[in-house]
Formats: sequence, C-alpha cells, structure tokens
Amino acid sequence: MQDRLIGKVIVVAGAGGIGDELARRYASEGASVVLGDIDGERAKAVAVEIAATGAAVVGTYLDGGDEQSIKAIVDLAVATYGGLDGFHANYAGFNAGDSEHDVTTIPMEDFDYVMNVGARGFMLCTRFAVPAMVARGGGSMVYTSSDAAFMGETVRVGYAMSKIAAHALMRHVARRFGAQGIRANVISPGVVAHPRFAEVMPAEIVEEFTRATLIGRLGRPIDIAAMGALIMSDEGSYITGQDISVNGGGLMRP
Ligand SMILES: NC(=O)c1ccc[n+]([C@@H]2O[C@H](COP(=O)([O-])OP(=O)(O)OC[C@H]3O[C@@H](n4cnc5c(N)ncnc54)[C@H](O)[C@@H]3O)[C@@H](O)[C@H]2O)c1
Repeated sequence: MQDRLIGKVIVVAGAGGIGDELARRYASEGASVVLGDIDGERAKAVAVEIAATGAAVVGTYLDGGDEQSIKAIVDLAVATYGGLDGFHANYAGFNAGDSEHDVTTIPMEDFDYVMNVGARGFMLCTRFAVPAMVARGGGSMVYTSSDAAFMGETVRVGYAMSKIAAHALMRHVARRFGAQGIRANVISPGVVAHPRFAEVMPAEIVEEFTRATLIGRLGRPIDIAAMGALIMSDEGSYITGQDISVNGGGLMRP
C-alpha cells in the first residue's frame, strides 16, 4: 500500500460493499476520512473498525437525498479535519419498482426516489463539496456510476438515468472549476461482488456476469478503491473530465 493521500481529507458518501472499501483504502493511504450512509450505525461501525488501525476516520448518518444532510457531512469534514480535498459520491438508491419495471410501468414514486437520491443527490454533493475544496486550493470529485448507464437494460430505467446524469455533472464540474484546481471523474464499475451483493444475486446470474468479463472473475471492491485512490491522489493530477470503466473488460466503449 502507498501513502499517496497523507494530509488529505476525503468524504466517502455511501458505505456498503464498495463504500466500506473506499473508506478503508483512502484511510490506509493516509487520508482523514468521513464516511456517511443512510445506515448511520453501519457507517459508524466501519469507521470504528478502520480507526482501530490508527487512521483518522469518523462515521456519520447521511441522507444523500436531502440537501441539509449533504451540507452537514461537508461541514463535518471541514470542522473535524480542517478542510476538504476529496469527495466520493458513491451511494445509490435502489428499489423494487425500478428493478422490476420498464419505463411504461414503473411507479412514479419509485422513479422519483431513484432520481432524487442518485442524480439530484450527486448534484447537491457537488454543490457543497466544490466550494469547500476551492477554499482549500483544489480537490478531486469522484462519482460512482455503473456500466448500467450504457447497457440499455430492460428494467432499471431510473437507475440508468440517474447514473448517466453523473457523467454530465462530472464534465460540467471538470470544465467549470478546473482552473480553480478541481478535478472531476466518474468510475463506472462492472459487476462488483461483495457480501450484500451475494445476498440478492442468484448463482446463474453471477455465472453469466462472470463469463461476460475478459478476465474470468467479477469485480471486487478493492478494484474500485484502487482506481479511487489514484484519482484522489496527486499522482492522478492529470486525470480529469474522464469516465473510467473498471469492469474487467465486460463492456468496451469508445
Ligand atoms: N456492486 C455492483 O455490482 C455495482 C456495479 C456498478 C455500480 N455500482 C455502484 O456502486 C455504488 C456502491 O454500490 P454497492 O455495490 O457497494 O452497493 P451497497 O448496497 O452495498 O451500497 C450502497 C450504499 O448506499 C447507501 N444508501 C442508499 N441510499 C442512501 C441515501 N439516500 N443516502 C446515503 N446512503 C444511501 C446504502 O445504505 C448502502 O450502504 C453504487 O453507486 C452502485 O450503483 C455497484
């Protein structure tokens, strides 16, 4: 493990299979980390686990669909650690309506929920994080999207639409705030296996996804965290405005 994030303060918005590992990796490379999740107890428990390694980490409740809650996590990072250098918008709102229906039948409240948490939520993360990073002299916005943004699935239209919104947002941020030292990038994972994923995914689907990759395995949270650490660090200082797939080659895009 390297020490590329020493002195940096990073918010990881959204714990869970991937988010826990983002927090672990950023902390292990030296960052002070604030980990937020709508399951605040989980975020706090993961933070305690990471802090036991000697890292500076706090866990907190975050509702990524709520403006004041998003503002509060940025304020917490600045108040606790003195500023903000990176913000990783990683959460996603899932629901059965979006997972089971197409555009003609999805209940509008389910569509609105997914869009509010995903698209509007990431916009609000940006709205509060960017000024805090500009005040610090620059920083890195990272958004977790998905191959699903490009695949054209028969269901999950809300999920795909909320994810592709992050790509437009990222390009806006990279161009508008680049001169003020802000970099912005999207990581688009392929299928990433972790315990919560295994709970809901039938074995035959896992096999199908595995066959679709070019390297014969599903993604792991550490694969996503490795990319996140690069683009959060100064080693990634020439990477901005990019949509970076981490997907084992399962989907190749121009
Ligand atoms: N696992 C995969 O195969 C995969 C593939 C592509 C993209 N992704 C993306 O990676 C990210 C992480 O997903 P994951 O696989 O770790 O799933 P996960 O379910 O383990 O984590 C998602 C987290 O988001 C939190 N969350 C939900 N609504 C929230 C809200 N309103 N405010 C704050 N937190 C909220 C959940 O509590 C959960 O901890 C998501 O953006 C997901 O879309 C995952």
